[in-house]
Amino acid sequence: MKIVLPGGTGQVGGILNRALTAAGYEVVVLSRRPTRDSHLQWDGRTLGPWAKTIDGSDVVINLAGRSVSCRYTEENLRAMMDSRVDSARVVGEALAAARRPPRVWLQMSTATIYAHRYDAPHDEATGVIGGSEPDVPRYWDFSVHIAKNWEREQQQARTPRTRKVALRSAMVMSPDRAGVFDYLLWLARLGLGGPVAGGAQYVSWIHDHDFVRAVQFLIDRDDITGPVNLAAPAPLPQRAFMKALRKAWGAPVGMPATKWMAEIGAFVLRSDTELLLKSRRVVPGRLLEAGFAFTHAEWPQAAGELVRRVRQERSHT
Ligand SMILES: NC(=O)c1ccc[n+]([C@@H]2O[C@H](COP(=O)([O-])OP(=O)(O)OC[C@H]3O[C@@H](n4cnc5c(N)ncnc54)[C@H](OP(=O)(O)O)[C@@H]3O)[C@@H](O)[C@H]2O)c1
Repeated sequence: MKIVLPGGTGQVGGILNRALTAAGYEVVVLSRRPTRDSHLQWDGRTLGPWAKTIDGSDVVINLAGRSVSCRYTEENLRAMMDSRVDSARVVGEALAAARRPPRVWLQMSTATIYAHRYDAPHDEATGVIGGSEPDVPRYWDFSVHIAKNWEREQQQARTPRTRKVALRSAMVMSPDRAGVFDYLLWLARLGLGGPVAGGAQYVSWIHDHDFVRAVQFLIDRDDITGPVNLAAPAPLPQRAFMKALRKAWGAPVGMPATKWMAEIGAFVLRSDTELLLKSRRVVPGRLLEAGFAFTHAEWPQAAGELVRRVRQERSHT
């Protein structure tokens, strides 16, 4: 089976590429700056020779998009939007033009599409899409706006022979360097992994092995289309999330941070506090309903397994 990964050079692409190649799939990555034989050049915006590799492939998983870990300046927000919308549009055009289109197009989306909320979890059926919450900074709307436009581009694509699924993924936790788990662990090891702004905001997450298994499940299940939440069934408040991570690593203290300290930290790290402060309480309604069983359903156990892999991998380097 041949799988094409537009934008497959990043964190999620690395996880999928390794796992799918090991499972015997032929994986082709589309990149703006190819560095390997299995990479093909594209610009993420316009049709080109790369589209030939989609014709006759079995699965496309589009991961392209400017990193969201940055200051939310006007210029960066525009790049975050355009890179996602343009790449989804041109993937749709390549599928529409293919003589033998793939049978499924998994399009990355995000759990951030849902509203900032503490009181109840969002599943696909009853969840509330964000963008009109009171008491949150207005610029938070923009991430929701990006996610909605991103998904709309896939929905509108005319690909009658290709099933379409939007992956509303939570943060994918893997031991990879420079991934989100690496960053959180770094904070915990520095003694900075305490509650931020009280720590009541929910963190949604998914273990990398379950992410890969869920993707394979969605490739195989011909009856599933539309948005699917990829998140472990037990999101938890940031305070408890970081406590479990500290325990898994053996970090004795986690200094609490106020909102203003988080603002300064985010500024120094050239990131944005929305990533820390928005309450993302997202659960995998459709996956569970379809019979998907999580291997890592609870964070303390998942964090323990990830820490073990980090220690193992880094003892060899
Ligand atoms: N990581 C997570 O936990 C997570 C959770 C939910 C959703 N997502 C979404 O899933 C996607 C993949 O995540 P990731 O963590 O693997 O991201 P990543 O590490 O930032 O990689 C994304 C890839 O997109 C390509 N890209 C960047 N800017 C682009 C542009 N302007 N036009 C076209 N392509 C561009 C890059 O590939 P080249 O430079 O090789 O072209 C890059 O390797 C992203 O859209 C992200 O928002 C990620």
